[in-house]
Amino acid sequence: MAELNRQWLLRRRPEGVVGVEDFEYREASLPTPQDGEVLVRSLYFGYDASQRIWITEHGGYMPPVGIGEPMRTMGIGQVVASRHPSYAEGDLVTGFLSWQDYVVARVDGPMPLQILPKADYPLTWNLGVLGVGGLTAYFAVTDVLKVQPTDTVVISAATGATGSIAGDICKAMGVKRVIGLAGGPEKCRWITEKAHYDAAVDYKSPDFVARLRELCPDGVDAYFDNVGGDMLDTLFDLMAPRGRVVICGAMSSGYTTPDVPGPKKYMNICTKMLQVQGILLFFYRDRLQAGIETLARWIAEGKIHVEEQIVEGFEHAPRLLPLPFSGKDPGKLILKVADPS
Ligand SMILES: NC(=O)c1ccc[n+]([C@@H]2O[C@H](COP(=O)([O-])OP(=O)(O)OC[C@H]3O[C@@H](n4cnc5c(N)ncnc54)[C@H](OP(=O)(O)O)[C@@H]3O)[C@@H](O)[C@H]2O)c1
Repeated sequence: MAELNRQWLLRRRPEGVVGVEDFEYREASLPTPQDGEVLVRSLYFGYDASQRIWITEHGGYMPPVGIGEPMRTMGIGQVVASRHPSYAEGDLVTGFLSWQDYVVARVDGPMPLQILPKADYPLTWNLGVLGVGGLTAYFAVTDVLKVQPTDTVVISAATGATGSIAGDICKAMGVKRVIGLAGGPEKCRWITEKAHYDAAVDYKSPDFVARLRELCPDGVDAYFDNVGGDMLDTLFDLMAPRGRVVICGAMSSGYTTPDVPGPKKYMNICTKMLQVQGILLFFYRDRLQAGIETLARWIAEGKIHVEEQIVEGFEHAPRLLPLPFSGKDPGKLILKVADPS
């Protein structure tokens, strides 16, 4: 076991776009787990836009990361010492870790560390397609939007870790027309050539609304909203009567504060009898395994395209944090810290 515990600590609450200067590198000695705790060696960190909310003063839907604390992250690690009967040395686990080589984790919280079963797919899939993004997409599509084969579905941030899987899930469920929104022609090409979407629209192009209207002549039956802001207003105008909207995220806000301005076109909810519902994966914690099994089956059947961007090296942890907002490549962004032993 290494002697040093490398850490990235939150130095200050960022104003606007988060930067490397908002974090401080430190080397500490190894922590010791107490009764009920396990010591986990970090292997992979996943990047989620919501990490930006966790470092605001109020933290949003989770307690804020404190100044001087290691930055919170979803991650995969390996148990190196256990003082909890359910976890053994060598177990591979996933859950909330933090930006340090060694993390002492309590395992009785609302989202306890999950022991990863032996599987014939890459470990990193547990952070992306079989982790937060893929599972949120799964429950949002199947349980909230309840898509039907006759639906026209639109999904924003469609090259993201959540949106890309959401589109493929819709197609796996036989939906007639699935349209993705993304920034730029290259990403739009990826949506139809790599992911299984039927069409893509570049939301940065001047004819974005006209193009979307053209693709949805009878309106949009289901909208998967990852973006909020003006795009949500545009979609409210394009929704078909009795359409469904799932609010999954608000990328357009930059998440610099948990308070996001509401839509201006919300009277469409009334006049078209729209159903608008949020999603938070925590509410599905008892059903995660069923979601993982279905997603794994669809991947094996070639119905879901898995894309990951894996960067290697603990030193890069803060540099990657703003990328979800400033144009990352398609798929799940992951930092590799170490190999399992
Ligand atoms: N509710 C939940 O339980 C839950 C769970 C997971 C994720 N989420 C939410 O789902 C959303 C997507 O997460 P993710 O993990 O898929 O993201 P991701 O892989 O980090 O990708 C973020 C995507 O957002 C797009 N984007 C960034 N700024 C944008 C803007 N101003 N307008 C339109 N698109 C923008 C980017 O694509 P372009 O380059 O095309 O702009 C990028 O593909 C986030 O809002 C996240 O908070 C919610």
